[in-house]
Amino acid sequence: MRRVVQFSTGNVGVHSLRAIIGRPDLELVGVHAATPAKVGRDAAELCGLGEPTGITATADINALIALRPDCVVYTALGETRPIEAIEEMSTFLRAGINVVGTSMVWLVVPRQADDWLRTPLEQACAAGGASLYVNGIDPGYSADTAVHSALSLVARARSVTVQEIFDYGNYDDYEYTGTAMGFGRTCEDDVPMAFQPGVITSLFGGLVRNLARQLDVELDDVRERYEAWYATERITCRMTTVEAGGVAAVRFAVEGVRADAPVLTVEHVNRLTPAAAPSWPYPPGGALGVHKVVVEGEPRVEVNTHLSHPTLDVTDAGCVSTAARAVNAIDWVCRAPAGLIGLEDIPPAEMIRGLMW
Ligand SMILES: NC(=O)c1ccc[n+]([C@@H]2O[C@H](COP(=O)([O-])OP(=O)(O)OC[C@H]3O[C@@H](n4cnc5c(N)ncnc54)[C@H](OP(=O)(O)O)[C@@H]3O)[C@@H](O)[C@H]2O)c1
Repeated sequence: MRRVVQFSTGNVGVHSLRAIIGRPDLELVGVHAATPAKVGRDAAELCGLGEPTGITATADINALIALRPDCVVYTALGETRPIEAIEEMSTFLRAGINVVGTSMVWLVVPRQADDWLRTPLEQACAAGGASLYVNGIDPGYSADTAVHSALSLVARARSVTVQEIFDYGNYDDYEYTGTAMGFGRTCEDDVPMAFQPGVITSLFGGLVRNLARQLDVELDDVRERYEAWYATERITCRMTTVEAGGVAAVRFAVEGVRADAPVLTVEHVNRLTPAAAPSWPYPPGGALGVHKVVVEGEPRVEVNTHLSHPTLDVTDAGCVSTAARAVNAIDWVCRAPAGLIGLEDIPPAEMIRGLMW
């Protein structure tokens, strides 16, 4: 039985918290809350479960360390406050407490992460003899597990394309995703944060370079591209409201290039409504989202991953899966040698332990 602390209860964190409470191989021992209104409330209430757990949320990291958990599930928004997130993760790691999580998406490919991020976390892992693992659905599953499965079916590959084609209309994250992608901005506004030169590459280029390393291919270049689609009429959705003339869909990619042709592509097509950007690719069968891998090779392989749920929408289903990518690794990460862990370090069957009881 692993003793686990859940750090934050946002879009993803409520689902990791539910998973921890529900799994007999994990024991919830603490919950962190940054929002003052959440402090002191029962974990069950924070994730919409009926039966109280007796574990109440605290903003005091030292009190959580004093509980001596085996692992912390860190799902606090990290990319807009990276220095604080590194320090929070490092505080647990230095105390010998393992961390799994979904935040700081650069860490999905830790060997490709920049020094400013990797070095302090490696030092914290070494100081505490602890391990850190970050994953999700995209980035994460779509460019690692899904690609590995597709490539295992081919005798030779010519190219790999990873696509998230997803309607973000119901994603309640204007603060980070919406602002960064510039939903609602007009063509006269400044280029949004995510599409400033080099930013897409900083977020997704590591995935491309990691695949190149795993496939043992040398790329001539890693380049990025970006397009926006502007609304022709007002669009109202959970993420935000976009007036006519504002961005309602974006399409962007990082491409690993050989002989002037993209051979490894990680692409996103994100709309706020199915009516946006009608000439761009859609998920198959009228779905709102797909995580898709296409390997052109011998033979051609296409993997389309669709999530659904009896009561949650596809966006929340994606958050359940993102949380699962972290929670499912807890046991192995607790047994791992100290340091930063990438998915490739974990034997695949270790990720399904504890799922069925
Ligand atoms: N790879 C993937 O597939 C994938 C998918 C989705 C999300 N993610 C990543 O997972 C992380 C969580 O995403 P999310 O959608 O769950 O985020 P979110 O709901 O926007 O925020 C998560 C939590 O972060 C805490 N937080 C936000 N701003 C804060 C601040 N200024 N100071 C301290 N704490 C703050 C809050 O914690 P409290 O609850 O304690 O108040 C909030 O509930 C993000 O880093 C995101 O990039 C990855």
